[in-house]
Amino acid sequence: MQRLSRSLLRAIPRTTRPSTPHTTTPFTPLTTTTATPNIAAMATTTPALSADTFLSLIKNRRTFYPLNKDLAIPPARIQELVGEALQHMPSAFNSQSNRAVVLFGAEHDKFWAMTADILKTVVPEAAWEAKSNKLAMFRAGAGTVLFFEDLTVVKELQEKYALYADRFPIWAGHTSAMLQFAVWTVLEAEGLGANLQHLNPLVDAKVVETWGVPATWKLNSQLVFGGKTVDDAGPKTFAPLEEKLKVFGA
Ligand SMILES: Cc1cc2nc3c(=O)[nH]c(=O)nc-3n(C[C@H](O)[C@H](O)[C@H](O)COP(=O)(O)O)c2cc1C
Repeated sequence: MQRLSRSLLRAIPRTTRPSTPHTTTPFTPLTTTTATPNIAAMATTTPALSADTFLSLIKNRRTFYPLNKDLAIPPARIQELVGEALQHMPSAFNSQSNRAVVLFGAEHDKFWAMTADILKTVVPEAAWEAKSNKLAMFRAGAGTVLFFEDLTVVKELQEKYALYADRFPIWAGHTSAMLQFAVWTVLEAEGLGANLQHLNPLVDAKVVETWGVPATWKLNSQLVFGGKTVDDAGPKTFAPLEEKLKVFGA
């Protein structure tokens, strides 16, 4: 049976849900790219798996902090989710410039300890206590996804398609943002909490040195994930939609 996320299950009427609940399905790491839930095929037979299902996952994604080290799903499942999102993101000319590193446990702790060491050298003493508390809060999470874009891919595209040379770095940023959002959303769909941080470029060199990633991988952001310590991310304000959306010819 295909595995369905908790949020997806919540969005499906009980009568149409698979008989074995998600929580009792033993976790089996997937080894092929064809083993992921085929949402398109399911949508044809299950009307509940519509755009509204996707929208409910989008709305479910919020910024959560603080986090703890209790993961609701195994690291292998997180690895699978990041990998699938990475493989299926759209990118300009299908250039696939996105790269990611997932840090769990001691490696996650190492990243945040290292970040604290670096920041201590640049943050004014008066501001250090607050900054240090914030960094400790991130470290208290269970893991971090580092999102990169590979500059060699961008450079190759610039050489190949000179007409768009100035666009490729921007489009690499677009596909990176799509990936960040997708990973954030799927992790929260599986019951984790997450928040997005930007310690780059201060930590870039140390990341290359510590985890041996190519120096051409430009770090864009860090998604901290872990167990939620609160159920609700709190209120969120929305500027009126009329100010943000215009429609013509409908
Ligand atoms: C491009 C981008 C950059 C962000 N940078 C940070 C950040 O550096 N630190 C942080 O705590 N949150 C960061 N956030 C999270 C936003 O503050 C948050 O998404 C926003 O306030 C809306 O709240 P929500 O995520 O709960 O919907 C960022 C979000 C985006 C999309």
